[in-house]
Amino acid sequence: MKSPEKLTPLLKQYYAIKKQHPGRLLLFRMGDFYELFGDDAVTASSILGIALTSRDHGDSGKLPLAGVPHHTLNRYLTKLLQAGFKVAVCDQVEDPKQAKGIVKREVTEVFTPGSITLDGALETDKPNYLAGISFAGETAGLALMDITTGRFMIDEFPSAALADNLSFHRPSEVIVPDAHRAALSQTLASAIPLATVTPIDDYRFDASLAYGDLVSHFKTTSLDGFGLGQLGPAIGAAGAVLAYVKDLKSGRVGQITRIERLHKEQYMELDAATIKNLELVETPYEGRKNSLLSVIDRTQSPGGGRLLRNWLLSPLTMLELIEARQEAVKSFRKASDIRKKAAESLKGMPDLERLSTKVAMKKAGPRDIAYLRLGLEKVIEIKTVSAGLQSQLITESLSHINDFSDLINLIAKAIIDDPPATLQDGGLFKRGYSPELDNLILGIDEAKKYIHDLQKIEREKTGITSLKVGYNRVFGYYIEVTRPHLSKVPSYFIRKQTLVAAERFITEELKTKEELILNAEEKIKTLEFDLYDKLLGEIGEHVAKIQDAAGAISTIDVILGFASMADQTGYIIPTIDQSLEIEIHDGRHPVLETILPPGKFVPNDIFLDGAKKRLGIITGPNMAGKSTFLRQVGLLTLMAQIGAPIPA
Ligand SMILES: Nc1ncnc2c1ncn2[C@@H]1O[C@H](COP(=O)(O)OP(=O)(O)OP(=O)(O)O)[C@@H](O)[C@H]1O
Ligand SMILES: [Mg+2]
Repeated sequence: MKSPEKLTPLLKQYYAIKKQHPGRLLLFRMGDFYELFGDDAVTASSILGIALTSRDHGDSGKLPLAGVPHHTLNRYLTKLLQAGFKVAVCDQVEDPKQAKGIVKREVTEVFTPGSITLDGALETDKPNYLAGISFAGETAGLALMDITTGRFMIDEFPSAALADNLSFHRPSEVIVPDAHRAALSQTLASAIPLATVTPIDDYRFDASLAYGDLVSHFKTTSLDGFGLGQLGPAIGAAGAVLAYVKDLKSGRVGQITRIERLHKEQYMELDAATIKNLELVETPYEGRKNSLLSVIDRTQSPGGGRLLRNWLLSPLTMLELIEARQEAVKSFRKASDIRKKAAESLKGMPDLERLSTKVAMKKAGPRDIAYLRLGLEKVIEIKTVSAGLQSQLITESLSHINDFSDLINLIAKAIIDDPPATLQDGGLFKRGYSPELDNLILGIDEAKKYIHDLQKIEREKTGITSLKVGYNRVFGYYIEVTRPHLSKVPSYFIRKQTLVAAERFITEELKTKEELILNAEEKIKTLEFDLYDKLLGEIGEHVAKIQDAAGAISTIDVILGFASMADQTGYIIPTIDQSLEIEIHDGRHPVLETILPPGKFVPNDIFLDGAKKRLGIITGPNMAGKSTFLRQVGLLTLMAQIGAPIPA
């Protein structure tokens, strides 16, 4: 870097911003491009496969440069994040036309692996966690946030259990107190080798500072309402995570509406080896394909998919909870007409959690809003048709769905039914929503009509039948008269441009109308921006309610999926009790059975009672199916404990 006084004003601005974001690539908006300078440009060009050039900054010398068109930002950001980089996006925060001197620029959002909020950058049924770790004596506190859905969870356990907890949740990024960074590096590298580790100032993890931050974020007086009990380091970790994402996202984290404690006592803990060996959510070579999850997943909504995955990895241990799910499945099986209608409404259900997050972060486009409305309408349909089901779990879930008629009406009144993709495209508001906007549009329409009619009127007035009214980007509107008719041109025509075969004119009135149109178009743009911002704010008030409803719909989706699975496959709903007995007749391995040709899988029985028959010994030749049988018993037990029907 040259000495500061030699730098151009643009580079001065660039370096000032760059200095605030050490360890991050800086994407710097210039006109229609996001540019990277210097080392950032070299790095990005090799990762993104984009051209590396250099730009001469006069006295400041030459600097490597690489850039991407602004509308391709998401695609390139995704690539950089997948490569493990942190990226700060710097935008022009004032209209270049209004700018005196150099355009004002600010970093509007920082992206890190644990805080990705980009369409299409993440799988829909997998959470992407940012974790925070803090310690108090021998106790470790863990906070997990999925910024895309707003889920925020904390837990505490002995420090020795940290590695297991981390490898279970597999966060893509962990923030740790600076002071613990070295001591933790071994644990983190073996438990979550792929995660990005971000050290943060120690004071950020201070539990009492964190408590204050959380309380003020949630606008409550204490955290008691969230049932967090007497947690210490977990609160510190949560506060640090929240402060970190607020910093990355310029404070726009309205989707974080609650914090919950992980209730591990209700769940059977599965260690990473079990999850891997039983191929619950992925297989070693094929990813999700042919995992247990892929075979039992009949969910239709993205939220339902995520919940099923969550259920599968957290089997229940309390009988009442398992039975409540089974009851719900049975109630759907009995009421096939209700099931059909509910399934119909679930079809094409948008990702309500992620949509509401986009609203809270003010990243939602007009189509997202229209999609949100569609989703809410479906929510109401599902609530209405499912109301008759005899299941406590469903009834309880439905009670979390609020009345959304005001919100649906608000969106219906504001946004046209098939809106443009972006706000910049304009024309997204319905007539009647804003009288001011309507008047501007009316003004334009009238002026355009005047211009449209002008050709006919002037032809009649002047008798020049070949007279034409046209438009070009440089000169605006004009009246064109071909050479032979120039003598007939009236005095109120003002000459504007001379062509080979014709002359172009304007009139005072035409000019006025043209200015009116330009003015109104400018005003409409500003007004649409303001109206849209206000609308997002109003919808944002409902984010917590939408999240509640989304949770309920996800539950219904998973349960309904279980009912469909039972119908389609003949799986049965097992009887579960507190005894030590396990008795399965005609059990099949759920995955293998679907891979093998129909009827080829040989069913197996098992009976153990925990008393006289506590142990069985399996013998047989190679490839006889011993391992398959063992896994099958494990899988069926697990499926039973999540409330699913089983192949038996
Ligand atoms: N019940 C079954 N019905 C039909 N095919 C089965 C059944 N169980 C297993 N198989 C098939 O037989 C093959 C061998 O199964 P498995 O690996 O369980 O055998 P094994 O007895 O554990 O073998 P090894 O002694 O080599 O460990 C598998 O590829 C599977 O496709
Ligand atoms: Mg074997």
